[in-house]
Amino acid sequence: MSDSSSKVSLKLSTDRKIQEELKRSGEIPTHIAIIMDGNGRWAKRRGLPRVAGHREGVKSVRDVVEACAQLGVKYLTLFAFSTENWRRPKEEIDTLMKLLIRTLRSETEKLHKNDIKLMAIGDIDSLPKEVRQELREAMEKTKNNKRMVLNLALSYSGRWEIIEAVKEIAKDVKRGKIKVEEIDDKLFSSYLNTAGIPDPDLLIRTSGELRISNFLLWQIAYTELYITDCLWPDFRRKHLYEAIRDYQRRERRFGMISEQIKKKGLNGNA
Ligand code: IPE
Ligand code: IPE
Ligand code: MG
Repeated sequence: MSDSSSKVSLKLSTDRKIQEELKRSGEIPTHIAIIMDGNGRWAKRRGLPRVAGHREGVKSVRDVVEACAQLGVKYLTLFAFSTENWRRPKEEIDTLMKLLIRTLRSETEKLHKNDIKLMAIGDIDSLPKEVRQELREAMEKTKNNKRMVLNLALSYSGRWEIIEAVKEIAKDVKRGKIKVEEIDDKLFSSYLNTAGIPDPDLLIRTSGELRISNFLLWQIAYTELYITDCLWPDFRRKHLYEAIRDYQRRERRFGMISEQIKKKGLNGNA
C-alpha cells in the first residue's frame, strides 16, 4: 500500500469508529433538516465571487449526505433555495440554477448506487424547465431506493406550503371528500409537501443566523434546533457529528416533565 492510500484508509477507519461511537452513545435522528447558509460570506472572506461559495457548498452537501446515509439517518432535508431567494440578483439565481442542474447530473448515479431516494419539496413548477427535467429524471431513477431519502427544498417556503395545503383542504371539504370536523394535525400534515415524512428531529442552521427563514414552519413544532457559526462551505461530517452529539445530550420533553419521559422511556436520547 502506498503512503497516501494507507493514510486514506486510516482516515476512513477512524471515521467509521466515530460513527459507531455515535450510534452507541444515543439515538441517531431519523430526520435531519439543514438550512445551508453562509455561502456568500464564505466567498466574500476570501475575496471570491459569491458563486465560489455555492460551488464549495456542493462539497459539503456531498460529505453530509454520505455521512448521514452511513449513520442510518432516514431522511435528510436540505434547504437549497427559498421562495424569497428569487429576489436575489438574476445572475446569482442563474448561476445557482446551473449549479443545481450540473450537480443533479453528476451526483444522481452515486445516489442511486448508495440506495438513496431523491425527493423535492417546494414550488417545483416555478423552477426553470431544465432543472425540472433533471429533477424528474433523478427522482424517477431513484424512486425505489430504501436506505435514505434526500429531500431537496427548492423554491420552498413554509407559508407557501401551508397555504397550498389550506387550499386543497378547502377544495376537498367543498367536494364533500372530508368533513370540517375531520381536520386535525394528522390530516393537515398529509396535505403538506412532506406528507409521509416524519417531522425533523434535528434542525441545523449554519452561519450563525438565529432565524428560521420560512423553513418547514409546521413540521418543526418540536424539532431540536442546532445553530452553528460554521459557514456552510466549511461544514463537513465532523460538524454533523458534533450536532448529533449535542442532540443526544438533550431531553425531548414534548410538553411533559422529565420524570414522565424517563418512566415511559419516551426519550430516545436519554
Ligand atoms: C446559502 O448561502 C445559499 C442560498 C441561500 C442559496 P447564502 O448565499 O445565503 O450566503 P450568505 O448568507 O449570503 O453568506
Ligand atoms: C435561507 O437562507 C435559505 C436557504 C438556505 C436556501 P437565506 O440566506 O436566504 O436566509 P436569510 O435571508 O438570511 O434569512
Ligand atoms: Mg444567507
